[in-house]
Amino acid sequence: GQIAGTFAMGVAIKKAKQSGLSMVGCYNMYHVGRLADYVAMASREGLVAVAFCNGGGPNVAPYGGRERVIGTNPIACSVPSSFGRSIQIDFASAASAEGKLKVARNKGERVREGILVDKHGNPSTDPNDFYDGGSILPIGEHKGSALGLMMEVLGGIFTGGRCSVFEDYVEGNGILFFVMRPDLFRERADFDKDIELLYTAVTGSKKAAGFEKLLFPGEPEVEHRGKSLQEGINLDDKTWDTVSGIGDSLNVSFKAASINR
Ligand SMILES: NC(=O)c1ccc[n+]([C@@H]2O[C@H](COP(=O)([O-])OP(=O)(O)OC[C@H]3O[C@@H](n4cnc5c(N)ncnc54)[C@H](O)[C@@H]3O)[C@@H](O)[C@H]2O)c1
Repeated sequence: GQIAGTFAMGVAIKKAKQSGLSMVGCYNMYHVGRLADYVAMASREGLVAVAFCNGGGPNVAPYGGRERVIGTNPIACSVPSSFGRSIQIDFASAASAEGKLKVARNKGERVREGILVDKHGNPSTDPNDFYDGGSILPIGEHKGSALGLMMEVLGGIFTGGRCSVFEDYVEGNGILFFVMRPDLFRERADFDKDIELLYTAVTGSKKAAGFEKLLFPGEPEVEHRGKSLQEGINLDDKTWDTVSGIGDSLNVSFKAASINR
């Protein structure tokens, strides 16, 4: 998925530079992973990009349901700025990405309320209940359910891919990339100026109780990446054993570099 996704975004970037606007779809590509990585490729080239993605699962119950019907189906968008970092949104239309449940399960932790129901439809905070036939809930009730459903249509059906609830579904994502030059409607300098104005208005606005600072989407990930590059990435033992076990089975040995080991 990551190889096909990178290739597809490369094509979209090239076409958008030529004609101002491009659309590229891709399916039957297995797992693309983190959707922001692809839209960020476009912003590094000074372009705006949107990505719609379906697939995985089904593992999410639609609003009002208790049965897995859709995927966690993320959406991502990245906008270049003149102040050094792109503005990026990237999130699942479900209350949790499935991978985060796996991490919680491996660590023996509970998840917060409102993320999942068990196989009988009862609210649960135990990630094991998901792996026992429960469902993840959509974000924002009916709104996230609607968004997730549209990802099935745009990332899946529209591109020629399949929805995970279909009998002939082959595991993997379907993606639709839109890439645009930011100066399609106005001068690039005016676009940049207004992005900065918006950034200042949002991050400089009054904070709610309990918040130290206001961030723009994408900033938490930049901060986290900086920390991880300094300190390494913390993995729980179960995840590490799984990953290194796969390496061993393929004769690729790697040692834990974590300072905590
Ligand atoms: N390929 C797949 O099938 C698939 C499926 C689901 C999710 N995913 C990936 O899983 C990852 C995690 O998704 P998620 O739903 O858990 O996202 P998340 O909840 O971690 O983050 C959501 C967004 O909110 C922003 N954000 C977070 N804290 C913020 C703050 N304090 N102020 C302002 N903005 C803030 C982030 O910058 C991000 O854009 C994503 O990268 C997604 O692409 C992939």
